[in-house]
Amino acid sequence: MTSSMATVSYIGATILFILSLGGLAHPESARRGNLFGMIGMALAVIATVFGPQVSAGGIPWIIIALVIGAAVGLYAAKKVQMTQMPELVALMHSLVGLAACLVGYASYVDTATVFPTAAEKTIHEVEIYIGVFIGALTFSGSLVAFGKLSGKIGGKPLMLPARHMLNLVGVVLVFLLGRWFLNTHSTGAGMALLLVMTVIALLLGIHMVMAIGGADMPVVVSMLNSYSGWAAAATGFMLSNDLLIVVGALVGSSGAILSYIMCRAMNRNFISVIAGGFGTGGGTPSAAGAAEPQGEVQPISAVDTAELLRDAKNVVIVPGYGMAVAQAQHVVCEIVKILRDKGVIVRFAIHPVAGRMPGHMNVLLAEAKVPYDIVLEMDEINADFPDTDVAIVIGANDIVNPAAQEDPGSPIASMPVLEVWKARTSIVMKRSMASGYAGVDNPLFYKENNRMLFGDARKMLDEVLGALSA
Ligand code: TAP
Repeated sequence: MTSSMATVSYIGATILFILSLGGLAHPESARRGNLFGMIGMALAVIATVFGPQVSAGGIPWIIIALVIGAAVGLYAAKKVQMTQMPELVALMHSLVGLAACLVGYASYVDTATVFPTAAEKTIHEVEIYIGVFIGALTFSGSLVAFGKLSGKIGGKPLMLPARHMLNLVGVVLVFLLGRWFLNTHSTGAGMALLLVMTVIALLLGIHMVMAIGGADMPVVVSMLNSYSGWAAAATGFMLSNDLLIVVGALVGSSGAILSYIMCRAMNRNFISVIAGGFGTGGGTPSAAGAAEPQGEVQPISAVDTAELLRDAKNVVIVPGYGMAVAQAQHVVCEIVKILRDKGVIVRFAIHPVAGRMPGHMNVLLAEAKVPYDIVLEMDEINADFPDTDVAIVIGANDIVNPAAQEDPGSPIASMPVLEVWKARTSIVMKRSMASGYAGVDNPLFYKENNRMLFGDARKMLDEVLGALSA
């Protein structure tokens, strides 16, 4: 492939990636967006492998690596549960970081490239240094995020004494070592400095993510996504690969925007998330500082739930993580069909951080073929709860917790939530009184107009469906 053909392919791939991001912004166009992304990536790989920068002798090796990588990727994609997606994504980010690091080292020891001026050599070394730094930080941070999300490492934030000072000292050291690195003329000394900096960057990555509490992990994953994009962009600079620079910048900036959106959804200050210290181990009742909910819990049966739904004019369904675990989306869709046929207005209310990954609920509902026009965002539907007869909460907890508004001492204080308790009746479907991801008790369960339908969401909904169809 000639150099101009490779350039045209790169431009085509860049346009496809931008169209892909645009498509992913809405559930209706997400499938098309994914397709654009896949075609763009195939084009980019072909143009790179058969492009002018790869010698014919290297192609078989690259193809062997591609086949192994594709086999591992296919296996992981087939095996992973939807609820394990965030940890898989974190693991993949770590690989991008590792790749940036390795490319940095390879570029440094590569003596084949001759730089016409000293300034160009310095610029290349700056690219290497920054690339290795971001790569190492992303690598270790993503591995810790993977450990926390998969439960291999406890979700409790690690609070070392003077932790901010430790981070600051680390960054200053990296900066000073960088100056030394740029002024050294020996490859051996340069390599040693690069290695010391890599160790500091690895420790910084570990420390930064260890200090972040369970409830803030979603933001951290999207932040690491952004870092992995910048690491890829830095690799693009090292290899003088324009496509990698553009794609890295696209991933870096979209990850940063997503982190910002998620911080807003959880009413968290981005800097305070990075500084850490929020959230607990998850799944444990009553977080420190929160008031204990009081009152009596009123259980309800599936038959009575069906009765309430049948008599309602207006129903809002709030899906959460438990619906994903129980894989109850298809039976929910059946129930919605029956209710709509009876003339009941049914809508879904989606919280931005419901489930365990951005868009988690939208994906499940799309899979069950729920019409898009009845799936509404939190801001679009929150004001409608006072006019709702029945709000039915399926395996959700934190996103409907009134403590966020009522208890300033709560760890989730002032996080925007779906105000289901304002409906005439709210029904919460879950297996027990256990808390959700943030490990915070939920006073909703004790409210007078709330009923608890205890059991696995799928089993309970099957019973509700049976009673409705009878
Ligand atoms: P959670 O607050 O985690 O609550 C889920 C509830 O589902 C649990 O309390 C659990 O109670 C119930 N459940 C589990 N399995 C069930 C089953 N088979 N049948 C019925 N119920 C079941 O979920 P949420 O309300 O969706 O809130 C999301 C939380 O996750 C937020 O704190 C958010 O910050 C965090 N988070 C979000 C993301 C993204 S990006 N969406 C990523 C990571 C973390 P029982 O055990 O009693 O059944």
